[in-house]
Amino acid sequence: MDLMEKIVSLCKRRGFIYPGSEIYGGLQGFWDYGPLGVELKNNIKKEWWKSMVYQRNDVVGLDAAIIMNPTVWEASGHTQAFTDPLVECKSCHHRFRADQLVGSQCPDCDGQLTEPKIFNLLTEVYLGSTEPKTKTYLRGEITQGVFVNFKNVVDSSRVEIPFGIAQIGKAFRNEITPGNFTFRSREFEQMELEFFVKPDENEAERWFLYWRQMRIEWYEKLGIKKENLRFREHSLDERAHYARKAEDIEYNSPFGWKEFEGIHHRGDWDLSRHKLTYKDYTPWVIETSGGVDRATLFFLLDSYSEVGDRVVLKLHPKLAPYKVAVFPLVANKENLVNKAKEIYKNLKSVTVTLTVTFDDRGNIGKRYYAQDEIGTPWCVTVDYQTLEDDTVTVRDRDTAQQERVSVSQLDSFFASKLN
Ligand code: GAP
Repeated sequence: MDLMEKIVSLCKRRGFIYPGSEIYGGLQGFWDYGPLGVELKNNIKKEWWKSMVYQRNDVVGLDAAIIMNPTVWEASGHTQAFTDPLVECKSCHHRFRADQLVGSQCPDCDGQLTEPKIFNLLTEVYLGSTEPKTKTYLRGEITQGVFVNFKNVVDSSRVEIPFGIAQIGKAFRNEITPGNFTFRSREFEQMELEFFVKPDENEAERWFLYWRQMRIEWYEKLGIKKENLRFREHSLDERAHYARKAEDIEYNSPFGWKEFEGIHHRGDWDLSRHKLTYKDYTPWVIETSGGVDRATLFFLLDSYSEVGDRVVLKLHPKLAPYKVAVFPLVANKENLVNKAKEIYKNLKSVTVTLTVTFDDRGNIGKRYYAQDEIGTPWCVTVDYQTLEDDTVTVRDRDTAQQERVSVSQLDSFFASKLN
């Protein structure tokens, strides 16, 4: 099995990610997050929001509607320019993005391809109960919700340029070739910052460099290996219609170096299009736009390791779905089980940031392995000594080393490890 197959299988087996609508045969480009996946994804979003909003005083948050007046998409240029070139094989009728093909024949059957056709990625929706229904779109990027609220935010909060608006939410693209697991989906989440600056090249350049550095450091701090990250500047012909300059943070994935997040200099494209100004000028925008699902996938891939016959997800503790697992040493000794349950309940109730799980199935070795495989950084085991001196063993996922910690100290022990 290659790494991607291992990750896809682990995700399904342990409840991170399932194919969408699976019992009805699935739907290409849609995925559901299971009990562990939703925790990992929420932790990624939480860390992003913390670093982009809570730890700064020049960024505020927003949560705009997914469906907007269709005029927004006319004004933003998406109905016209949010497109990919589509070709179809005349023999097997498979469809491809012309810009992603290497040769001129069908990669599946060597058949002849049609001339490229311009294909718009916006997903149409129809609203209202009377015909003709109003046609609009599911948002193709979450960004436009920020721009159309620019004036609202300026008028209702105490922001002054330079400042940013951060948002996390779902976006939808009718991708021609969804694939590589969740990497290219038709429904996905984005985490974006639109940072408004004075319309000045030096100022824009300064903030562009600042944000690209901040963003790559964020991935590094949360454990992505440095050697698996790089920047790549877009050439003129691959830039989106709104971008004056664009650079991707790329990840060294099993299917090649791929876009993790885009840093864009959008100039005054959007605010001008929506006829919005600030004081007597139109600000420029530096954007950082990351994918939550891509981040989830890349954090999983990057943390996957095999130590002997053990699979260990070396997720950063801040991202791990569970921080702590509590076990009785043996399953059928009532006093050990009761003590373990008591410790489990206490840990769960005293701290909000600590997600704790309990397991008393099988033998202790198997339980350690099961926690390693889902990335739980610490396992607490209640043994016979616990009943005598109120200490437990705490096992570290990455070193497999154990140390004895007093039960009354567990809280502060994990709090200091996590921070
Ligand atoms: N507002 C700018 C914007 O949307 P983008 O480069 O088109 O820029 C930004 O998208 C990020 O959104 C990408 O870097 C990627 O992480 C994520 N993304 C885009 N399309 C995606 C898809 N089909 N599936 C999953 N994630 C996607």
